[in-house]
Amino acid sequence: MTDWDLDLERASSAALAALAGAATVDELEAAAAAATGKRSPLASLQRSLGAAEPAERRRRGAQIQAARARLELAAAQRRDELLASERTAWLAADALDLGDVIVTNRPWSVTMGHGGLIPAVQAELEDVFVAMGFQVAEGPEVETDWYNFEALNIPPAHPARGLWDTFYVDLGEPETIVLRTHTSPTQVHLMEQAVATGTLPIHSVMPGRCYRRDTPDARHLATFHQVEGLVVDRGITFADLAGVIETFTRAFFGPDIQSRLRPGYFPFTEPSAEFEITCTICRGAGCRTCSHTGWIELGGCGMMDPDVFAAVGIDPDEWSGFAFGFGIDRCAQMRAGIADLRALTDNDVRFLEQFS
Ligand code: DAH
Repeated sequence: MTDWDLDLERASSAALAALAGAATVDELEAAAAAATGKRSPLASLQRSLGAAEPAERRRRGAQIQAARARLELAAAQRRDELLASERTAWLAADALDLGDVIVTNRPWSVTMGHGGLIPAVQAELEDVFVAMGFQVAEGPEVETDWYNFEALNIPPAHPARGLWDTFYVDLGEPETIVLRTHTSPTQVHLMEQAVATGTLPIHSVMPGRCYRRDTPDARHLATFHQVEGLVVDRGITFADLAGVIETFTRAFFGPDIQSRLRPGYFPFTEPSAEFEITCTICRGAGCRTCSHTGWIELGGCGMMDPDVFAAVGIDPDEWSGFAFGFGIDRCAQMRAGIADLRALTDNDVRFLEQFS
């Protein structure tokens, strides 16, 4: 063992001991900063790497990485323990002292409620994308015209506005504040934040509720849910987009359901595509639900349009990306085989109870 290794060994075990000895979350955070922060022995060992020969530098670099990972894991474990015990202490201090009161049997029977189908499907979709390396973000449901339309390359009076029948909010100048008609405006918030904080790339999905002035029918509700996806990184191609869509389809719907992309038009992507999956009702044979095509449209996708990058200040020569957006309600409908989506809002417990 070289002197350098001994130094690393000593610094790691001192830091591990300090982490294990932390008695409160505050102490733990201080010990964690001292263990791996800028002024830690680990950081100065890292700074000393420059002086070493290349092969030795690589070996030492790997040792430091491993030590850092060990310390971070120890800090996370100790943090969990401390948070759990602080919570237990807090609950005990907060408990009602009922003294000699005798608690009798409940005089009425209680029916437990349960979560609904859509939140459950949303959580499952998030899990699928998180497993593929995406982060989950959310944005506001009330948007300005800029986020819902203009920044997405849909200027006022653009014919494409007809694709989204919009509810306007009676606030400020007429028709300037909208209930978002899709989750795409959250992309714009995310890109703006990443540019402002210098935290590109982005790999995120953004689920949420949307609103359109549509008459409800078997496949549409005026209040519905979408999940948006956005990847902005270096060297992203259409093949990456197609791969993500196909991987998602199989993970969520199962291996016998396929996805396909058909040329489409959206103002914020170029090229754009419509994203379809094998009809889950007839498994592709053709039925009434899929108008005898064997395919069901889930949403849209495409490569980021340079105009959208320009609106948020991203350099299209350095960055490229793709986006997609599709209906969570439609996914739930396809998976659960629900003939008419309006059943979800009818409040008939005999229907809703099936999804507990
Ligand atoms: N926002 C579109 C809609 O609601 C769907 C969509 C299409 C989202 C293409 C995207 C995209 O991100 O790239 O109709």
